[in-house]
Amino acid sequence: KSIVVLISGSGSNLQAILDACSAGFIPGQVKAVISNKAAAFGLKRAETAGVAAQVLSHKGYDNREDYDAALVQLIDSHQPDLVVLAGFMRILTPAFVAHYQGRLLNIHPSLLPKYQGLNTHQRAIEAGDSEHGCSVHFVTAELDGGPVVLQAKVPIFPEDDAELVAARVHEQEHRIYPLVVRWFCQQRLQQSADQALLDGQVL
Ligand code: GRF
Repeated sequence: KSIVVLISGSGSNLQAILDACSAGFIPGQVKAVISNKAAAFGLKRAETAGVAAQVLSHKGYDNREDYDAALVQLIDSHQPDLVVLAGFMRILTPAFVAHYQGRLLNIHPSLLPKYQGLNTHQRAIEAGDSEHGCSVHFVTAELDGGPVVLQAKVPIFPEDDAELVAARVHEQEHRIYPLVVRWFCQQRLQQSADQALLDGQVL
């Protein structure tokens, strides 16, 4: 299976997926990594892995529709079976999401449906939560609202700050994202409307 990964930053989830591909854990290959930011460290990770690293800056586009149309063109030039959002910090248009329906995954740093949007770790701490985590989900037109495939939980301890919690969550992200990509590439995972199915069972 061919995979395209979209990033905006560090790309530690990208790294986990690249490593899982080269270890044979994911029966697939990352064909390209695309960033909307030229400074994203993940681009270096791609180069080191021998994967095409491309920048498509959102600057220079008048509106979201035009940028997303250009992004679709670039992604589709790699003919991916799966598009993986790994810290891609842009809201996608409904047209983009519709184009990749059923083959577009995202990871979000909360136990969805809790804490959609930004600053999830700080918000969980401020709410006094004793547990937090991350979710891999299929992307639908609803922001952070698509069907969840897999979640991992971490504890929040009283003395924690957002940075400590973020590090704990990241560790789990690096476990669950490669696993979900593996399932997809094994053709065990499907999206059907607002449900995710693994081996035909609703998750
Ligand atoms: C992760 O926390 C992910 O949940 C969120 O963005 C962050 C990306 O981190 N969507 P990295 O670039 O993979 O290190």
